[in-house]
Amino acid sequence: MKQIDWKTLGFDAYRTRTVVISHFKDGQWSTPEKTETFSFTFDPFAQALHYAISCFEGLKAFRQQDGRIAMFRPTENAARMQRTARYLGMPCPPEELFLQMCEDCIHGNMEFLPPYGFGASMYLRPLLIGVHPQMQLVPYPEAVFAVMCAPVGSYYGAHLRSCAAVIPGNYDRAAPKGSGSYKIGANYAATFKPYKIAHEQGYTELLYLNSSTREYVDEFGSSNFFGIRGNKYITPLSDSVLPSITNKTLQEVAADLGMEVEKRPVPLEELATFEEAGGCGTAVVITPLSRIDMKPVLEEPEVSRSFLFGTDGVVGPWSTALYRRITAIQAGEAEDTHGWCYFV
Ligand SMILES: Cc1ncc(COP(=O)(O)O)c(C=O)c1O
Repeated sequence: MKQIDWKTLGFDAYRTRTVVISHFKDGQWSTPEKTETFSFTFDPFAQALHYAISCFEGLKAFRQQDGRIAMFRPTENAARMQRTARYLGMPCPPEELFLQMCEDCIHGNMEFLPPYGFGASMYLRPLLIGVHPQMQLVPYPEAVFAVMCAPVGSYYGAHLRSCAAVIPGNYDRAAPKGSGSYKIGANYAATFKPYKIAHEQGYTELLYLNSSTREYVDEFGSSNFFGIRGNKYITPLSDSVLPSITNKTLQEVAADLGMEVEKRPVPLEELATFEEAGGCGTAVVITPLSRIDMKPVLEEPEVSRSFLFGTDGVVGPWSTALYRRITAIQAGEAEDTHGWCYFV
């Protein structure tokens, strides 16, 4: 195996060794199997391929300061996958199976678990897909649940670097009363094209508004939104954003740091009042923003409004404090008073 440079890891589909798989058929989950072929075989009519009957989770495992290995809040991911599976009418892996397969995946890929001290971790990707060959648009009680992993550094190539985002006036992420709050693959499909355009224009992130009225902030394409004013941590309450486990954690960390926490609809206008703003999620942890541009048509040059946060390029004090605290707990450097680390 080529020596991995833990310092320069990005966020890529790195090919590791072991994938752990269980099959739901005839009303039960099979005993998980570890495979090293790194490939799946499906019927060409499998539901996942045609109708996007597919969902996933994302969580991290850390080698901590004292050498122990901890997954961060994996029971939350297990619960969220069950909620998503119910939405898709799929069999749900029970929490016990979810945790066991995540542990098996870590143990089957130990040489890819980044050592302590590089700011890197092992990203676990549990995937649940409908594999029954079927043309009809109805659920079927057959699925494959697989857990794979990749060593990751920072999503954007640098830790806590401030970025620009764009609000695309002519794209939505999720329909009102649609699937936005579930972690289904199809939600991400709709973001590929606008992401490509935004990246070509130098923006790191897409910030979506609520699609029914476009009056409120929903979330980024890959993470939740938070804004900071004074000592308040403010994050949108919306039924079309993914209930982020990082955001839930940051709300508790913010309270621990003496901040006030508000989870409520965030009007677009309020962006102008935030001193700091950012995205949060497992992959990114925190992405501090220096500006958000609003473009009526993403493909066109016109910017109708810009919102600026802090001094350009300098990450604000609260964002820095939140980032430091959450990453210190994950690395075992700060006391895990909430019991978020799940040791394997
Ligand atoms: C659309 C979207 N929102 C929010 C999040 C953050 O969720 P979590 O903190 O559970 O990773 C993610 C995933 O990272 C996401 O893909």
